[in-house]
Amino acid sequence: MNTNTPENPSAAGTAPDAASTPATPGGDAASTAVSPETRAALASTAHAPNSPGATHIRSFVHRRGHITQGQLAALERLMGAWSIPYAPRRLDPAIAFGRQAPTVLEIGFGMGETTEKIALARPDDNFLGVEVFNAGVGSLLRRIEDSNIQNLRIIQHDAVEVVRDMIAPDSLAGVHIYFPDPWPKKRHHKRRLIQPAFISLLASRIAPGGYIHCATDWEDYAVQMLEVLGNEPQLANTADGYAPRPDYRPLTKFENRGLRLGHGVWDLIFKRVA
Ligand SMILES: C[S@@+](CC[C@H](N)C(=O)[O-])C[C@H]1O[C@@H](n2cnc3c(N)ncnc32)[C@H](O)[C@@H]1O
Repeated sequence: MNTNTPENPSAAGTAPDAASTPATPGGDAASTAVSPETRAALASTAHAPNSPGATHIRSFVHRRGHITQGQLAALERLMGAWSIPYAPRRLDPAIAFGRQAPTVLEIGFGMGETTEKIALARPDDNFLGVEVFNAGVGSLLRRIEDSNIQNLRIIQHDAVEVVRDMIAPDSLAGVHIYFPDPWPKKRHHKRRLIQPAFISLLASRIAPGGYIHCATDWEDYAVQMLEVLGNEPQLANTADGYAPRPDYRPLTKFENRGLRLGHGVWDLIFKRVA
């Protein structure tokens, strides 16, 4: 982690215009040409936990790490078409998606496997995926292209800031937070995303009647989620404790393996009260 680089929030998502960037057929060429903008975004430490200017404890460590040539090529080629740069001002979903439709926010989509399936299965909803991890963003961009997904946009930035700055109060139809980083060590619990202050902020962005759906395979995090969501006055549990997994959330490969090994998975679905 490098905390010496000045924060440059605009680096994330400032991808080149897709139209001005030559496509890389196949996307896996060994010598993917990378523009200065993509290189800057990849190298940015703007989102590091302790970067100067951070006003809250980050729920992630860094967004660098291994990235395949295909993911890199997708970032280079598709960011301009499908991502929305972070900016400290309200997003107008009708403009971002080119239509009026219920908007569901997904925080931390990882490699985007679940995001792709849900966006395809629910074409009448808009999905806004927020992730900090370069390889994950590259992976979801490839899925968008390969599956010709039209109802999905990406913001590559800390979701806490996206929710605070870009999402209007009472505006979201739903929020998905699937398998957030568990931060298992007690001294790291402060990095967990599901904390009272963030849930209060997030709940204020959900429209009355809208929902928040979390899932985790860490039992003690599930207990924390139930407590935090249960104590938030803007939310009401739709189940008596944990909820059955709804059909729209597909089982991931990782989750399937865990279930075969006898590990538990806990879903929580709360509604925003009026
Ligand atoms: C354990 S992974 C789960 C990924 C995916 N939801 C799944 O079910 O496979 C958690 C993801 O959340 C992302 N993440 C953590 N904190 C975040 C934040 N504050 N803003 C955006 N993404 C975040 C991480 O980069 C990581 O990809």
